[in-house]
Amino acid sequence: MASQATTFTSFFLIILVFHLFSAILVAGQSDCNVNLGSILSAGDNNPPWLSPSGEFAFGFRPLLHSNNEDLFLLSIWFNKIPEQTIVWSKNDHPVPKGSRIQLTNEGVLVLYDPRGVEIWRAQTGSNGGSSCAAMLNSGNFVLMNRDSSYIWESFRIPTDTMLPGQRLSMRGNLTSRQSETNYTDGRFQLRMQGDGNLVLYTIFLPTEIVNGAYWTSNTIRANSSSQLVFDEAGYVYIQQANENIRNITQRDMGSNQDFYHMARLDFDGVFRHYNRPRRNYAADASSCASSWSTVQTTPENMCRIMDNLGSGACGYNSYCVNSDGKPNCFCPEGYSPLDPLDMHRGCKPNFNLPSCQQGGWESNVEFVEFKQLNNTDWPLTDYELQTGPEIDINTCKEFCLRDCFCAAAIYNGKSCWKKKFPLSNGRQSPDLNKTALIKVPRNNETSLCPKSKDQSTLVLVGSLLLGSSVFLNFLLLLTISVVLFFLYRKKLRNLESSSSLHGLRRYTYKELEEATGGFKQQLGRGSFGTVYKGVLPSIPKRFIAIKRLDKVEKEGEKEFTTEVSAIGKTHHKNLVILLGYCDEGNNRLLVYEYMSNGSLASLLFGISRPHWNQRLNIAFGIARGLTYLHEECSSQIIHCDVKPQNILLDEYLTPKISDFGLAKLLLSEQSRAARTHIRGTIGYFAPEWFRKASITVKVDVYSFGVMLLEMICCMSSVGFAMGDQYEEEEALIDWVYDCYSKRKLNKLVENDEEAMNDMKSVERLVMVGIWCIQEDPSLRPSMRRVAQMLEGVCEVSVPPRPSGFSSS
Ligand SMILES: *[C@@H]1O[C@H](CO)[C@@H](O)[C@H](O)[C@H]1NC(C)=O
Ligand SMILES: *[C@@H]1O[C@H](CO)[C@@H](O)[C@H](O)[C@H]1NC(C)=O
Ligand SMILES: *[C@@H]1O[C@H](CO)[C@@H](O)[C@H](O)[C@H]1NC(C)=O
Ligand SMILES: *[C@@H]1O[C@H](CO)[C@@H](O)[C@H](O)[C@H]1NC(C)=O
Ligand SMILES: *[C@@H]1O[C@H](CO)[C@@H](O)[C@H](O)[C@H]1NC(C)=O
Ligand SMILES: *[C@@H]1O[C@H](CO)[C@@H](O)[C@H](O)[C@H]1NC(C)=O
Ligand SMILES: *[C@@H]1O[C@H](CO)[C@@H](O)[C@H](O)[C@H]1NC(C)=O
Repeated sequence: MASQATTFTSFFLIILVFHLFSAILVAGQSDCNVNLGSILSAGDNNPPWLSPSGEFAFGFRPLLHSNNEDLFLLSIWFNKIPEQTIVWSKNDHPVPKGSRIQLTNEGVLVLYDPRGVEIWRAQTGSNGGSSCAAMLNSGNFVLMNRDSSYIWESFRIPTDTMLPGQRLSMRGNLTSRQSETNYTDGRFQLRMQGDGNLVLYTIFLPTEIVNGAYWTSNTIRANSSSQLVFDEAGYVYIQQANENIRNITQRDMGSNQDFYHMARLDFDGVFRHYNRPRRNYAADASSCASSWSTVQTTPENMCRIMDNLGSGACGYNSYCVNSDGKPNCFCPEGYSPLDPLDMHRGCKPNFNLPSCQQGGWESNVEFVEFKQLNNTDWPLTDYELQTGPEIDINTCKEFCLRDCFCAAAIYNGKSCWKKKFPLSNGRQSPDLNKTALIKVPRNNETSLCPKSKDQSTLVLVGSLLLGSSVFLNFLLLLTISVVLFFLYRKKLRNLESSSSLHGLRRYTYKELEEATGGFKQQLGRGSFGTVYKGVLPSIPKRFIAIKRLDKVEKEGEKEFTTEVSAIGKTHHKNLVILLGYCDEGNNRLLVYEYMSNGSLASLLFGISRPHWNQRLNIAFGIARGLTYLHEECSSQIIHCDVKPQNILLDEYLTPKISDFGLAKLLLSEQSRAARTHIRGTIGYFAPEWFRKASITVKVDVYSFGVMLLEMICCMSSVGFAMGDQYEEEEALIDWVYDCYSKRKLNKLVENDEEAMNDMKSVERLVMVGIWCIQEDPSLRPSMRRVAQMLEGVCEVSVPPRPSGFSSS
């Protein structure tokens, strides 16, 4: 019996093995998933070439934020995750709509422009044509010859990203991109050098002069070949003579069953190793904070590593603060950024450099003050040192004060270093036990407001009058009247110029057409019209955003100027500034200041999640801006369309509300949209929109509440159920309330260490959010109250269940 059973088992085993083999054979043949003659066309919505697992795709991707809306990039991307992160591209060849990529009948991969002119072809060297191509499950796109060996691989010509299974061979390199969304080659390069050293370099474009290495692996070994290996398990290391000689990844990357892995030389010069849960929201709605997270950065601290290189990571006269490997640049007080759009370029003093001549501010002790920065150092550029037990912070200041060349002094408790201009390699970090004392001219003008100054002049005049003889009094009075007269005239003139500055400018259509180069560079489409980027000849360095309204209805026309001037009267740190308008025939345009960091939507739902503190500050700012609109400006403004797409961010990530004040003009349009149930924005509309109930400021409170919950979780209420089918938008709201009521708030911010360490704030924000989304408008707090609760000024009580959601 027993032997019969064994025979039976072995028989089954043999069948099993046979099946396995045939499965492998079939897999080998079906590797070829792109046949000769296959073709893809840019902008035609034809499906990309997919890997068998569907996880990677090869095809065209539209280039967002480009001058020309219709540019596409031939790319490979992660196809199963909402971010669709691009891992490879022909970034030197953005192509227009209608361009084609074809695997010709001769087996050559060629990129054609819309007229059929060849732009690029995959170089296969002496191997000739391929017999087919394949998008592999690894993310490698390959051309194969008849015996299935690869004659061309995207893995061999990487752009800025590496994937598990990929190797960077000797003399290979990765080049960073310009910015998060501009894929053109940027300023940094990672090279696997011929001498075995892995090196990070800065390049100065467009001359491509290599400036210098800012990080090296110190693995020079001339006699053996080296490569950078990204193994299947998700670890990056340097291999020489088939031996792992240096781990680049030192942290736990998570298993590749649970995580996607990727390593990228980012636009800020940091080589980052990312992982991301493979899970989809649709499958498991319990994890909220699913996105790419940085596991390791090389160099670990960009601020420190660039110590002996030129100006440092942040340019001259600035200081660098490391946050998770990302260099954040700041200007000390009294200095301002050279280029506000690029903080890495350094800072310039807001005052004249010391001339060391008589009459210079630096030579008059009274005109000088020191700004103190704790835990900060400019380690180079010192030229004199005093040291000894008698030196304290005041003697150090005195020491710098008495020397007109001294730009700043660094004090460490016993020594005092004098630093000269330009300050370089500045760094601030808690482990730096040094205090920077920055010498700047004392500024009495700006710190006092004009009123109190006038009063002090009067007091001065009065006391002088009392204390002098009649004749002198007369003379003095005369002088004072003359002086006051001139001062008054000057003030009048100031007032005039400031009113023309703060008032709105009326532009002609032609001016705006020229400013935008014929409305070419589209920044986005909002509910009221299209926004274009432009530059006015009068202020060449400053970009503007021009919104072209396309839905102004006939009745709205008369109100246009009234509304626009009402918008023009608003002035708040958290509102986008309206600079001017155009009202010519059918053309109605609004001219706004340009916001360099895009919208909150792209920040929040983009690749790298903003820090918890940044999100907190953004929430505070929006609440203050809305409070101003509702309560503080001359006539109440209901925004009616508060959503992340309408919150813009400047270079310091200050939130600025846009599109306010347009609702009156376009209200009918807006409410029609709401009432006809347009997918996508419905998530932010308060229930009263659908009930024809009266619309009050509380609709903005509701929208703010939804947005606040999104900011906590970093995910969109609209795309909450990421899968192929969308579930009800209310899912996010429902789920947040669920987590809140079950006291499982940590689920909302899983994988977000900063938020996890600040659960008190998370809870407060969630409670405020739930108050805001109450179905009954009268239960929702005012925006002022919301702002106070957010900032912790007043207590937040336990919110009731926002009815109407969970029941449905
Ligand atoms: C990317 O940046 C380069 C250089 O700054 C610029 O020439 C190019 O137009 C930008 N591309 C896009 C798509 O914005
Ligand atoms: C970087 O690599 C590319 C090929 O991927 C090569 O053409 C280029 O010359 C390399 N650049 C440097 C500076 O080594
Ligand atoms: C390569 O050179 C090192 C010293 O630089 C030596 O220790 C090693 O044995 C050499 N390896 C080979 C394969 O020659
Ligand atoms: C690299 O890390 C692995 C464990 O992750 C360890 O076993 C190995 O010794 C390390 N290699 C080097 C050269 O440090
Ligand atoms: C710097 O440190 C001193 C003493 O340690 C402290 O009194 C001061 O408030 C600190 N300044 C700032 C701006 O943190
Ligand atoms: C830091 O400097 C202060 C004086 O500024 C000194 O009292 C303290 O002991 C120093 N701490 C360390 C850790 O060096
Ligand atoms: C600035 O204010 C200080 C006192 O805060 C005073 O001693 C100094 O004279 C003032 N300087 C000028 C230029 O007014």
